[in-house]
Amino acid sequence: MKMIVVLYWILVIIAGVVIFGFYQKATNAVCKSKKNLTGRTAIVTGGTNGMGLRIATDFASRGARVIVACPFIDEGTQGRKTIVDKTGNNDVVFKMLDLASFDSVRCFAKEILDSEDRLDLLINNAGIAVARVRRSLTMDGLNLLMQVNYFGHFLLTLLLLPLMIKTGTPLEPGRIVNISSVLHFMAGTVNLDHINSRLYCNTFKLYGNSKLYLILFAHELSKKLKGKNVVINSVDPGAVGTNIFNQYWGGATGSIITYIFKNCFKTPWQGAQTAIHVALDSEAGKVSGELFKNCKLARAKSDAYDDMASAMLWAESVRLVKLDLDEAEFLTSSAYYH
Ligand SMILES: NC(=O)c1ccc[n+]([C@@H]2O[C@H](COP(=O)([O-])OP(=O)(O)OC[C@H]3O[C@@H](n4cnc5c(N)ncnc54)[C@H](OP(=O)(O)O)[C@@H]3O)[C@@H](O)[C@H]2O)c1
Ligand SMILES: *[C@@H]1O[C@H](CO)[C@@H](O)[C@H](O)[C@H]1NC(C)=O
Ligand SMILES: *[C@@H]1O[C@H](CO)[C@@H](O)[C@H](O)[C@H]1NC(C)=O
Repeated sequence: MKMIVVLYWILVIIAGVVIFGFYQKATNAVCKSKKNLTGRTAIVTGGTNGMGLRIATDFASRGARVIVACPFIDEGTQGRKTIVDKTGNNDVVFKMLDLASFDSVRCFAKEILDSEDRLDLLINNAGIAVARVRRSLTMDGLNLLMQVNYFGHFLLTLLLLPLMIKTGTPLEPGRIVNISSVLHFMAGTVNLDHINSRLYCNTFKLYGNSKLYLILFAHELSKKLKGKNVVINSVDPGAVGTNIFNQYWGGATGSIITYIFKNCFKTPWQGAQTAIHVALDSEAGKVSGELFKNCKLARAKSDAYDDMASAMLWAESVRLVKLDLDEAEFLTSSAYYH
């Protein structure tokens, strides 16, 4: 009897997920911008797979110089080749970047600052959501999922800001886009005592927190960047059928869930549309510190607009990525190039 009740609920949940997925897929908005990106430079983290690959391909097809970054040479080389073959644009570069290592982030940023003379678009897309890394620590002593999804992008964004500030103009501001998630709603309140806790018992919550922090980061950074011709916004792509949740449930369950995701959720191309919209649309370039969903402005969880929490998270993040506050202020000011 009990078995039947459990089975019943499992079926109800699967049916709910399928209906929700199909609904989102059917109502997915597509970026309509015709913007030509010739002469512009874009960086897409995780631009070699999933949604990131579609975002990078879109930019390359508009003539941009595109730099894609991921931690695996094979996948990176393959991703670059896919983009070049699809678009005929040869100006696509793969660079190694492991967001789980601050050394790697610094090395990547240094290479960019040395080799590039402009940076128009930074898409903080890479992310992981794997259960078994829940308690893993990085070499830098932080939670692995948190560091890849949030701290790594925090440091990367700050280190690249001077180049973006130099590139941006009032009419064409530099744009930073963070890929957040609807799961930020599931994150509790911002708990700064636990920002780097290893004791998260629930990966969904850990993932949700990392995504809420991204939105808060944007909120804080957008204030610091007023008048500097760089805007920063977050995107909720919806439920997308990529490989990201593959390893969440191991074995057969994992395969079934991935099968469902791939068949009734948005395709990676559909999932990429809002990020592309926020990166290119002229109206979207006029706002900063906001969240977009389905190519429209949306409202994040109210915690994401908490000035005090975002200021505290900022200071705590600066400390944990081993910057000092002066260096962080310096990077967000335009003093660097003057
Ligand atoms: N799929 C969804 O339903 C959904 C919903 C909301 C938000 N999102 C967010 O959307 C973004 C893209 O996800 P996706 O669904 O397209 O997943 P995906 O196909 O797994 O792509 C993730 C990308 O991030 C890269 N990456 C992983 N670890 C990295 C590291 N340590 N350093 C640098 N790059 C790393 C991956 O590179 P490798 O392949 O080489 O590991 C891959 O290119 C993520 O931020 C995710 O949280 C996804
Ligand atoms: C963009 O504009 C350039 C000229 O400025 C042109 O050569 C190129 O074909 C255009 N690219 C696209 C994709 O429209
Ligand atoms: C984007 O992420 C960075 C790094 O995590 C953060 O500093 C910034 O505030 C975020 N921006 C938005 C709009 O969420």
